[in-house]
Amino acid sequence: MGIRIDDLTVTYGKENVISGLSLDIPGGCFFTLLGPSGCGKTTLLRTIAGFVPAAGGSLRFNGTDVTRLPPHKRAIGMVFQDYALFPDKTVNQNVAYGLHARGERGADVARKIAEALERVGLGHLGNRHPAALSGGQRQRVALARALVIKPAVLLMDEPLSNLDAKLRIQIRETITELQREANITTVFVTHDQEEALSMSDLIGVMNRGAIEQLGTPQQIYATPRTGYVADFVGSANRLPARLRGAASGLVEADFGRGPIMATDARDGAQTDEGLVILRPESLHLSAAPQEGLQNLAATVRSRQYLGSKTSYRLDLGKGLEVVAELHGPSHDGFLPGAAVNLGINAAEARVIAA
Ligand SMILES: Nc1ncnc2c1ncn2[C@@H]1O[C@H](COP(=O)(O)OP(=O)(O)OP(=O)(O)O)[C@@H](O)[C@H]1O
Ligand SMILES: [Mg+2]
Repeated sequence: MGIRIDDLTVTYGKENVISGLSLDIPGGCFFTLLGPSGCGKTTLLRTIAGFVPAAGGSLRFNGTDVTRLPPHKRAIGMVFQDYALFPDKTVNQNVAYGLHARGERGADVARKIAEALERVGLGHLGNRHPAALSGGQRQRVALARALVIKPAVLLMDEPLSNLDAKLRIQIRETITELQREANITTVFVTHDQEEALSMSDLIGVMNRGAIEQLGTPQQIYATPRTGYVADFVGSANRLPARLRGAASGLVEADFGRGPIMATDARDGAQTDEGLVILRPESLHLSAAPQEGLQNLAATVRSRQYLGSKTSYRLDLGKGLEVVAELHGPSHDGFLPGAAVNLGINAAEARVIAA
């Protein structure tokens, strides 16, 4: 079931939270809305579900206009951050809820419940109450409850954020497995970039009620089109620079330490000011200049040992600072105060329009 959103506007009172948003989600896609708190992720998801009305624009499921349909007529399953299970019902009764609401009764219901619980690995817990379950088990029940009605669209609002780090990864895998198995169009909301990158077919990075960039995880991470996206997905050094002489995909960028060559990612905009985006892990630190790289002298300000990598804050002079990461647990490192060489590869430095 494909979802098509055209020129959608959503308002609370007088305030436009979403204005003129258009988006195409292909059938079977695992689509993630990624963005910081307050950017409108939940609002957009609840509008797709039908809990929040659209003030303008339209919403279509496989070509059928559902803009004015109530939630229970939209064939959606929904999973919330706080599980939203009925505390006074058993696991079986919780999962039965959607089936009963659709008028299903009898042996078929029992079989569907058993199947759904089996699929999320909870076949043995049907008679428990939610209070006697762990957080991860509760979220699995919520997932079974959403899936048991065989929805055409699965909507999930930060379903992993109440779980600890290990469980989060486990349930992440359960969710992607079930999604692929049933090939069910999924809209997943998160502010966690790692979740978004690891689970999605497509990511829409949201900023103030709009989708700022849409792409595969690789596209979003490797080719962010704005400083906002570069900084929200992964971390990025962003250096304002004067630009000159673009040729064969490269552009000369001067951020105050003499020009370097960088990849021209301005989307055709011929500006003479831009932003150089340097991923910390793309920078090369060494004691001496390295062949094949553009070398800048730097001083180590501070360093953080992080186990699998070490993160360095470097002073480039002229008020410029960048963060560089070196990978490998046995890396000896450079001490604060040390003079080092920062190597920049033109292919890994990207210039976007400012
Ligand atoms: N019922 C409401 N009435 C008025 N304003 C609201 C209502 N719900 C949300 N808002 C506002 O709309 C904006 C978007 O909120 P929304 O809940 O969609 O953000 P979000 O991206 O899901 O954030 P979070 O990551 O914190 O859950 C916020 O400014 C919020 O204050
Ligand atoms: Mg939210």
